[in-house]
Amino acid sequence: MVLLEAEKLGRQVSADRWLFRDLNISLAAGEQLALQGASGVGKSTLLNLLAGLDQADEGRILFEGKDLKKMGGDEHLHLHRIAFGFVFQAFHLMPHLNALQNVMVPCLIAGLPLDQAKARAQALLNELGLAESYEKFPAVLSGGEQQRIALARALIHRPKIVLADEPTGNLDPVSANLALELLCRSCREHHAALVMVTHSDKAAERLDRRLFLTN
Ligand SMILES: Nc1ncnc2c1ncn2[C@@H]1O[C@H](COP(=O)(O)OP(=O)(O)OP(=O)(O)O)[C@@H](O)[C@H]1O
Ligand SMILES: [Mg+2]
Repeated sequence: MVLLEAEKLGRQVSADRWLFRDLNISLAAGEQLALQGASGVGKSTLLNLLAGLDQADEGRILFEGKDLKKMGGDEHLHLHRIAFGFVFQAFHLMPHLNALQNVMVPCLIAGLPLDQAKARAQALLNELGLAESYEKFPAVLSGGEQQRIALARALIHRPKIVLADEPTGNLDPVSANLALELLCRSCREHHAALVMVTHSDKAAERLDRRLFLTN
C-alpha cells in the first residue's frame, strides 16, 4: 500500500533558482528511504514539504491518497499529532520542559494515560543512554543529548511515518549506531515508514532505498 506520494513536486527559492522540479516519490507503508545529497541541495526543504510543514510551488503530496493541501484543519492537525513523527535538524525541544516531559508530549496530545506515556518515554531514553537525564532541561544538555531526545519524541506515539533530518548528525559513532538501531527497529516493529536525511553512506545502506538529490 502506498502511504506517501509526491507528484511532480517543485520548490523555487528565487526567480531563477529551483531547488528541485518534477520530483516524484512513492513510499510504501513500512518502507525505509534514505535521502542524500550535498549540503544546500534541498533535503531539509523536501522533508518539510513531505511533512506538510511547508508548501510546494508545483505538484502535490498525497498521504494515504489524500492531497495534503486539500485537507481541512482537523485532518491536518491529526496528521501532525498522530500520524507523523518528525526529527528536526535543529531539534526544536521545548525549553521549559525537561527531557522526560519533552519526549512524553506527543503521547499526551494523542490522549495516552500519563503513566503509559511516562513508561514509554523512560524506555526510549534508557535505550538511547539517557537514563540519567530525565530531569534535565534542554539548556544544560549537549547537542547530541538533545538530538537523542528529539528522536525519542518522534517515535513515542508510534506514528505511521517518521521523517528524520540527519537524526544522528551530532552523535559520536557509538551513540549514532545506537540511535540508528532504535530508529530502524522501532519503525519496523510498528510498521512505520521512514524518510531519513543522512550524509552517512553506512547509515543509508541500512534502509530499503536511497534517493540522491542533486542540482
Ligand atoms: N524559503 C527560502 N527562501 C530562500 N532560500 C531558501 C528557502 N528555503 C531554503 N532555501 C535555500 O535552499 C537551499 C537548500 O536548503 P536546505 O536546508 O533544504 O538544504 P539541505 O540539503 O538540507 O542542506 P544541509 O545538508 O546543509 O542541511 C539553501 O541554499 C537555502 O538557503
Ligand atoms: Mg538540511
